[in-house]
Amino acid sequence: MTILVAVQRQALCHVIFVGIVTAIMTSQVLSEKVGVVFGVANKRSIAWAIAKAWAAAGARLIFNYQGERLKENVEELVGEFGENVPLFPCDVSSDEEITKFFQEVRGQTDRLDLLLHSVAFAPKEALEGEFVNTTREAFRTAHDISAYSLVALAREAAPLMTNGGSIVAMTYYGAEKVVPHYNVMGVAKASLEASTRYLAYDLGPKNIRVNCISAGPVNTLAARGISGFMSMLKHYQERAPLKRSCDPAELGATGVFLASDGAVAITGQVIYVDGGYQIMGM
Ligand SMILES: NC(=O)c1ccc[n+]([C@@H]2O[C@H](COP(=O)([O-])OP(=O)(O)OC[C@H]3O[C@@H](n4cnc5c(N)ncnc54)[C@H](O)[C@@H]3O)[C@@H](O)[C@H]2O)c1
Repeated sequence: MTILVAVQRQALCHVIFVGIVTAIMTSQVLSEKVGVVFGVANKRSIAWAIAKAWAAAGARLIFNYQGERLKENVEELVGEFGENVPLFPCDVSSDEEITKFFQEVRGQTDRLDLLLHSVAFAPKEALEGEFVNTTREAFRTAHDISAYSLVALAREAAPLMTNGGSIVAMTYYGAEKVVPHYNVMGVAKASLEASTRYLAYDLGPKNIRVNCISAGPVNTLAARGISGFMSMLKHYQERAPLKRSCDPAELGATGVFLASDGAVAITGQVIYVDGGYQIMGM
């Protein structure tokens, strides 16, 4: 009789344990949160992977698209989340378009909790050849679109983050070490990472956290613009401790972590999701 009770108790404990684990795994850690997502171009975009993960965790999302050329793509993708997912044009090199975008956002919600910045651009010729040949115009464009835009978007989003918030930007290791061909984009990413720290300091008192995810190489549209990109991927497979870079779903999971209560005391940081490559000395 006693043995039977003990067995029943053990079985009950197991059921409760499995229930708790299942609840954690499927829990809607971002339910009630509203986010804006900048940077979906197509289904390979890192922004799309993070948006899917944010939505699966319960967040309601509003998207930008860069010009009419990309509208149809983004419209079709966000259709996965149901009808009438809001999306508005916004080229981040234009102050007017940023202002207009956030006016549209205010028409959809009076509160924001999340902002994803997954946007970068440098003229193709600046991502080939030698960094020393970077033109003033290519330098200006790369910094404007890939780094300053974070400041401009954070400034618009912050007043809507009345319950605090989480701002996440995408960066790459070329910000801190020389990666051949990454050139001016590496310098712009260094500016993005430094901007993240200054924004974290400014917005911290409002409980708005600002962090970067430093992703290892992922085969996307932007990545294919970098000369020698495929050899970067191979290099990670040979040298990274995990013998690989990262996949988009893993970036999505880190995006959810940074947006969630698990990261409430983390701000101004660069989190590496790169198979461990960043720790290597040679
Ligand atoms: N793919 C990688 O290997 C990798 C690694 C580390 C970091 N990143 C970073 O991830 C982010 C997303 O890139 P991705 O690889 O998903 O490529 P992607 O081409 O899918 O995304 C880049 C996005 O930037 C947008 N964009 C460019 N100029 C813009 C402008 N003027 N206004 C508004 N939007 C503009 C594009 O529309 C596109 O949606 C970038 O910041 C990139 O540097 C990528």
